[in-house]
Amino acid sequence: MTTYSWRNAPSAGYAVIGDPIGHSWSPLIQEAALAHAGLSGQYLAIQVPDLEFDSALKRLRECGYLGLNVTVPLKERAYRASQPDREARRFGVVNTLRLGDMVGTNTDAGGFLDSLQGVADEPGPVLILGAGGTSRALAKALQDAGWNVSIWNRTTERAERLVSDLGFPMTVPETPDPKGFRMILNTTSAALAGESLPIPWERADPSTLAYDVSYGSKMSSFLSEARDHGLRIRDGVEMLIAQAARSFEWWHGIEPDRAIMRKAVEHLRWT
Ligand code: ATR
Repeated sequence: MTTYSWRNAPSAGYAVIGDPIGHSWSPLIQEAALAHAGLSGQYLAIQVPDLEFDSALKRLRECGYLGLNVTVPLKERAYRASQPDREARRFGVVNTLRLGDMVGTNTDAGGFLDSLQGVADEPGPVLILGAGGTSRALAKALQDAGWNVSIWNRTTERAERLVSDLGFPMTVPETPDPKGFRMILNTTSAALAGESLPIPWERADPSTLAYDVSYGSKMSSFLSEARDHGLRIRDGVEMLIAQAARSFEWWHGIEPDRAIMRKAVEHLRWT
């Protein structure tokens, strides 16, 4: 898929920004929805390194961009750079920006809860792996939906900061021990760095759901290890589609056809 650096990205209406960005399927999903709704406009994938976020945002606004999706590692920066709406303030994270008035919202959390329907309807104990922007939004969404949240992170202090920022009780275990959890939710970007997580899978109950918010043409090592230990597994494609649909509706005021969005990427999925 074509990706651009923010310094030489051509003018277009919409884009997803992050670093790395080449793995993103958002352009396929959003462009399918635009075409189906009869709207003109392009949606590109643009690489924006963490420390260049402010300069990139300035240039993309000058180039006439109307909206951006924001992914790893920029979601917390996007919150600070925008006027967060009520939904974004609820989670402290922005993954969708409207550049005209610089309002930011969060569609990850709602999209994630949409994706649990029919898969994990009954709340219970959940272990979230990672303590970045995605973890923050999903921890709050799960707590509000009645789940009992624990957070493990490679850097424990960051998990502790997240717990103190969110302001409700959560456990911060020292190891990612899956025993006793109804769901293990991977929000880390370890796989992007080609690394795996030190999970003692043999301690997990087979009825546990292993959910990875990432997606791709190859099953993540998190999911393949979980499957090898007999767990139920779920990748991030349904969440991707649900958050994309919510972002689309927020920008365009039109509810997109989620089946069309799904069709645009299902041939790429490992399943
Ligand atoms: P996002 O906004 O999508 O949550 P992020 O803020 O960059 O992305 O957070 C990435 C998360 O992946 C962090 O929890 C990070 O752990 P650290 O806080 O210790 O950096 C985690 N992560 C990244 N690479 C990892 C690896 N190789 N092993 C374990 N965790 C990793």
